[in-house]
Amino acid sequence: MAGAILCTLTARHDPSMVLMLLKHLRAKIIFVDCQLLEVARQAIDLFNKTETELPALVLISESDGSVQRPLGEWDPISVNYTSETTLQPKGVVYSHRGAYLKSIATFLLHGMGLIPVYLWTVEVMTGGLLPPPQILSKMEGLGFSVSHLYGLTETYGPGTYCAWKPEWDSLSSDQRSSIKSRQWVQHLGLEEVDVRDTVTMESVPSDGKSLGEIMFRGNTVVSGYYKNQEAMDKAFEGGWFHSGDLAAKHPDGYIEVKDRLKDVIISGGENMSSVEVETVLYSHSAVLEATLVAHPDDYWGQTPCAFVKLKEGCHVDAQEIIGFCRDHLPHHTSPRTVVFEDLPETLTGKIQKFIPREKAKAMGSLS
Ligand SMILES: *[C@@H]1O[C@H](CO)[C@@H](O)[C@H](O)[C@H]1NC(C)=O
Ligand SMILES: *[C@@H]1O[C@H](CO)[C@@H](O)[C@H](O)[C@H]1NC(C)=O
Ligand SMILES: *[C@@H]1O[C@H](CO)[C@@H](O)[C@H](O)[C@H]1NC(C)=O
Repeated sequence: MAGAILCTLTARHDPSMVLMLLKHLRAKIIFVDCQLLEVARQAIDLFNKTETELPALVLISESDGSVQRPLGEWDPISVNYTSETTLQPKGVVYSHRGAYLKSIATFLLHGMGLIPVYLWTVEVMTGGLLPPPQILSKMEGLGFSVSHLYGLTETYGPGTYCAWKPEWDSLSSDQRSSIKSRQWVQHLGLEEVDVRDTVTMESVPSDGKSLGEIMFRGNTVVSGYYKNQEAMDKAFEGGWFHSGDLAAKHPDGYIEVKDRLKDVIISGGENMSSVEVETVLYSHSAVLEATLVAHPDDYWGQTPCAFVKLKEGCHVDAQEIIGFCRDHLPHHTSPRTVVFEDLPETLTGKIQKFIPREKAKAMGSLS
């Protein structure tokens, strides 16, 4: 309420990342908790003093400054950096209006009561892209009621959720998890979510099969990328925000996310979804984590290559994994190659696919 724009930086950044973000933001003040003072101090020390004005470092304490209300509801309230690993961080600008709508939508959607006395963890909301259904079933087994929300920083977090239909209650636990992690309708407060052709912008038919890109529009969608109009124009081509995720639309209007566009593997002219194969990999009892990437191939164009981290004490070989996938998937979508190793994760715990992807590229063609 000081009339400034907020940007929260995660406590897990190192000084050089903090420096990069502070510079990009042209931050005027950095508030820091005493536990993180060293990181902030080192970041400030790294500044090129001749080039920029240094941000003031303020240790957090309670204060009672005067309240400055925004002049308009579209004024920016915060800048949130995307967790994607790009050299150029993208600062996602939120408006007061969007943040207000999103907060109200969240209370409504997740049934926050009138006087919430206890911490609100009877219900668990999970975000990010597609946790395998097995993880959801396991958590339910422990007594949590898990909802999966799909969205991006650009949609203020959750952009869709799974509105549960009573007729799904009677399905098996695996089937229920699979619905929860895949089938969604738009989050309250958004104007519209649709699945459209990336280029022609035509809406795909609601047949559960035709694929297109998930697109959003409305007041709870990013107002702009901070100092990056080019990225903004690209993301909003055709008047909708392009998510970069691939989905199909069912006759009842629910959308089903298939994959990141850039993760689709094209083998022998056929498109395959890495998520479907990853789901099968996760159902193998020895697999802790898995990801599927394209392995360039002279004959097939690409072949599927799995990177797998096994559970501690488990020993299986590539043939066992490939055989298991072939038992559960069409032959051509089963991995041809399996690499066993630790999978690199982002600060928020998502598997960093670009690293295995680069490794697979370097492995050379099989045929
Ligand atoms: C965006 O930033 C605000 C303020 O720094 C923070 O409270 C909020 O949780 C962030 N939202 C997301 C989706 O990252
Ligand atoms: C600091 O910035 C000045 C002015 O842009 C430049 O000449 C100098 O090389 C920079 N120094 C470092 C260490 O980057
Ligand atoms: C595979 O995906 C590409 C790019 O989205 C598309 O142009 C092509 O028609 C698809 N091929 C098949 C067989 O679905």
